[in-house]
Amino acid sequence: MKTINEFLEAKEKGRKITMVSTYDYWSARICEEAGVDCILVGDSLGMVVQGLETTLPVRLEEMVYHAKAVRRGARETFIVVDMPFLSYQVSPEEAVENAGRIMKETGANGVKVEGGEEIVPVIRKLVSAGIPVMGHLGLTPQSVHALGGYRVQGRTEEQKRKIIKDAKILEQEGVFCIVLEAVPSALAKEITEFVEIPTIGIGAGKHTDGQVLVFHDLLGLLDWSPKFVKRYFNGREAFINALKTFKEEVEKGEFPDEEHTYE
Ligand code: KIV
Repeated sequence: MKTINEFLEAKEKGRKITMVSTYDYWSARICEEAGVDCILVGDSLGMVVQGLETTLPVRLEEMVYHAKAVRRGARETFIVVDMPFLSYQVSPEEAVENAGRIMKETGANGVKVEGGEEIVPVIRKLVSAGIPVMGHLGLTPQSVHALGGYRVQGRTEEQKRKIIKDAKILEQEGVFCIVLEAVPSALAKEITEFVEIPTIGIGAGKHTDGQVLVFHDLLGLLDWSPKFVKRYFNGREAFINALKTFKEEVEKGEFPDEEHTYE
């Protein structure tokens, strides 16, 4: 995908959208070669790359650094960059400055922000500045402490009503796509049918217009993943075995052999 119009077209035509969260040059190249529709430079990098317990400490500079590397690896792919915690909640003016930095310095195609009604002034300002905005509802990790942990959202009637209302508001404010994270499948279906912009689910069942997973999760590189992650490759085991073999061969004097030695 190259433009936000293609996201809308995909929904109209019933073609499912794929998005992968990733953070560096070589994984971005792999995603592009595999034909993934959209790369999200997610602030999940705080947990996946930096080993933090939440996404809260991730800084704008770090997002910019990773997004630049991703753009170098995926020149033809639509790239969305997460605005990190407190880079957009303080004021709409500061949000535009920070989103503007992301767009100018990284070559991203859009930014993602978490939340609904409460961040309308921010979304309005970003959209009016011509910045494509992806929304994020349901389990919004930047609010993990306010939500009382990483738990499924939209199980109570009150939560459900708020998420549906927020989805409609985001659409009205010009958001081009909404990520729905950790919500019951029936709620994701209702929202997907209710809004005209595409929804991309993670832990939201199969009825959304697309799916997003974290690169390291779907390749099985991590030692733990949540229930909604399907591991398409046993990466952790494959990597460990390769490294063990390297160590053994070096210790036995088998590596480097002639094939890997200059005359
Ligand atoms: O930060 C991230 O990678 C995300 C996705 C999991 C949706 O927000």
